[in-house]
Amino acid sequence: MDKEEDPRNGGDHVTTTKRLKLTRLITETELRSEFSHHEPGVARINNGSFGCCPESVLTAQSSWQLRFLQQPDRFYFSALRPNLLRSRALIQTLINAEHIDEVSLVDNATTAAAIVLQQIGRRFSDNQNDTVVMFSCAFPAVKKSIQAYVTRAGGSVIEVDLPFPVKSNSEIIAVFRKGLAKAKSDGHKVRLAIIDHITSMPSVLIPVRELVRICREEAVDQVFVDAAHAIGSVPVDVEQIGADFYVSNLYKWFFAPPSVAFLYCRRSNPSSSEMHHPVVSHEYGNGLPIESSWIGTRDYTPQLVVPAIMDFVNRFEGGSEGIMRRNHEEVVRMAEMLAEAWGTSLGSPPEMCASMVMLGLPSKLRISSDEDAMRLRSHLREKYGVEVPTYYRPPKNVKSESEPKDKDGFITGYARISHQVYNTVEDYYKFRDAINQIILEEDLS
Ligand SMILES: Cc1ncc(COP(=O)(O)O)c(C=O)c1O
Repeated sequence: MDKEEDPRNGGDHVTTTKRLKLTRLITETELRSEFSHHEPGVARINNGSFGCCPESVLTAQSSWQLRFLQQPDRFYFSALRPNLLRSRALIQTLINAEHIDEVSLVDNATTAAAIVLQQIGRRFSDNQNDTVVMFSCAFPAVKKSIQAYVTRAGGSVIEVDLPFPVKSNSEIIAVFRKGLAKAKSDGHKVRLAIIDHITSMPSVLIPVRELVRICREEAVDQVFVDAAHAIGSVPVDVEQIGADFYVSNLYKWFFAPPSVAFLYCRRSNPSSSEMHHPVVSHEYGNGLPIESSWIGTRDYTPQLVVPAIMDFVNRFEGGSEGIMRRNHEEVVRMAEMLAEAWGTSLGSPPEMCASMVMLGLPSKLRISSDEDAMRLRSHLREKYGVEVPTYYRPPKNVKSESEPKDKDGFITGYARISHQVYNTVEDYYKFRDAINQIILEEDLS
């Protein structure tokens, strides 16, 4: 059957033409109502982990779910495909991809990593000198994929330590270059570089364009950018970035419900035709975007709400770009306010942050292990209603002037604070006061 004849391509006319919409800006009351399902009393300054989804997008999702349940066959044969295409077309424009076939919708960044690494892993079986270069703080689930697809196939991994606290892009570029040079001097062929666009923990905005350019210079075979946190928090232009593969979750900073991500696969990369979804179903062999559009019966509605998300973001001044800019400005302002209140410092300069900032916690908290950091996080949630991820960083060189300190000792704990449209300054005051109270009143021995 011809692609055009396939009834699942449906009758809905898909158009990517931008219609002029005169949208009224969202009011404060409407904004609060969009997030009224958030548990009251919780200072939610961790948008980075699980994102958020406004009421209007959830309503759009429910209506898709209902449409499926009302007449599943019609939904499958005439609505699903063209509307997935509409979502993909919007993403294509948003990220400046050359062709719609470069954009697939998948569940999340973990799935995308499995797709990319499965393809790469097949190449490792022939040559034991093949290696992957990545940051040691790459997301743990992605590292597990490397273990499953690359290490098991005989490939090796070179991990580059991200400098943290970090002062400039040039520090990151220097260590990355060193990692590639080490691969060369050890006689390895770098089959794949994995570069985070915004690392998870510690969180830093990486000079991804520059690192991809270096990879090209150094003849790295393929480059995969794990940009789980990028879309909706930094402008994304995949043409300019120039990687072979680029994944970003839509549910983190782009207001999608759980769970959807886009995976961009550059068409000029010869391997792009070898990409397969790890769940093999009816569409196997028809190209990744189509394979991913039916991987068995399940809920596809998170992938269908991209138009509703666009409507939501366009109610804010400056649309998505305005949201990104304000989130960045606000999260930096809040981090500086807290650092001043506690006498600590930020883990990177503001220009190396998007909508998340690493913020030094007072040394009096005596965080001296990952477990301590995790205990503090749970304690903030359970006793103080503050949701924020924490991070332990042992002192590297206690004799060094550059070792981060406050007036009482070395800063060994950091919080990763986020800012999203629903946050208010009170959320950050609540966090400030909780930490002050823990130091004043609780036994920290
Ligand atoms: C850098 C990075 N990569 C990958 C992931 C995994 O995302 P998901 O759980 O949606 O697959 C995350 C999640 O926070 C992340 O921060």
